[in-house]
Amino acid sequence: MKTYTIAVLPGDGIGPEVTAEGERVLQAVGQRFGIAFTLAHFPLGAAGVAAAGDPLPEETRAAVRRANAVLLGAVGAPGLEHAPRHLKPETGLLALRALLGVYANLRPVTVLAPLVDRSPVKPDRLRGVDVLIVRELTGGLYYGEPRGRDSGGSRAVNTLVYTTPEIERVARVAFEAARRRRRLVTSVDKANVLEVSQLWRDTVTAVGREYPDVRLEHLYVDYAAMRLVSNPAAFDVLLTENMFGDILSDEAAVLVGSLGLLPSASLGAGAGLFEPIHGSAPDIAGKGVANPIGAIASVAMLLRYGLRLPEAADAVEQAIGTVLAAGARTRDIAAAGEPVMGTREMGERIANLVRSAECGVRSEDTPVNSALPTPHSALE
Ligand code: IPM
Ligand code: MN
Repeated sequence: MKTYTIAVLPGDGIGPEVTAEGERVLQAVGQRFGIAFTLAHFPLGAAGVAAAGDPLPEETRAAVRRANAVLLGAVGAPGLEHAPRHLKPETGLLALRALLGVYANLRPVTVLAPLVDRSPVKPDRLRGVDVLIVRELTGGLYYGEPRGRDSGGSRAVNTLVYTTPEIERVARVAFEAARRRRRLVTSVDKANVLEVSQLWRDTVTAVGREYPDVRLEHLYVDYAAMRLVSNPAAFDVLLTENMFGDILSDEAAVLVGSLGLLPSASLGAGAGLFEPIHGSAPDIAGKGVANPIGAIASVAMLLRYGLRLPEAADAVEQAIGTVLAAGARTRDIAAAGEPVMGTREMGERIANLVRSAECGVRSEDTPVNSALPTPHSALE
């Protein structure tokens, strides 16, 4: 039997609750498709600080290096907001992304028909919305040096820096994805003000010449933010640098009605990192009410992009669609008066459906992997 090793990093807040449901669904996939998943947990974020005094403990570093894929919950804890930077949960996440070299972050935003009325955006604007955000993840302001705060505290600096190869490699992921979708890449920048954005625009334009079958347009980030709510169906693949992508992806979540629904895949040369885009939500942590669908949809992305098991990924995605169409709702996506279920019940419903083989199989080529370096050797 094929065996995959998955490092599970539940992290903080609602992270452990939602990843538990992701694992449940992964085990159901294993039963249905005859695959063995070895799942082991390692601390990250505030959990890492508590366990080992480090938001990315050595034990976790070693484990993700050995894994075929990494499933992550969320990081962030109210108690550590003012901690020194090396002890912040977010520092652990950024170090993890850098360690894995996952430069391309894919955030699909698809409006599901049964949830159209959950968004504050008018339903007629939401018809056909299917955006893939491709966010550069290991460069830009998040990592640029110099950075820091002067000893007096009254001056601080961060550095926005990108090199041509960093832009080229993530642009290729966007174009490859567009080729298998509606053949439009919208590249976001602030080229009217920033030199880095001018380099971004020039480089994306040059890469675009390798893809004559894909249309390329460039938008300033302020206008892109507006169009994302006024005419979201106009986007296919949205290509952004790190910080712009962070901001625009939360905005895009408004279209689907809840941040709790959205998954992500972070890909590079080695093992991929798969995580819901929602945060640790400390206000609802431990209550069993969080929506696990973002984490479960991240498992689908893990299967599709991390392990290249498209049939298994399809089964999970179809199961999510089926339970939502049947009216299953966690608190965040329920209309007033609608019955609500908890994290675990939602996870069980989806897992049962995956196991029962009731969701059909539509196998397709794995979308963007061809833009990435060959998968790491642990995958056979
Ligand atoms: C995200 C998160 C992270 C980011 C934080 C937790 C560092 O907001 O994945 O979007 O800004 O990248
Ligand atoms: Mn974010």
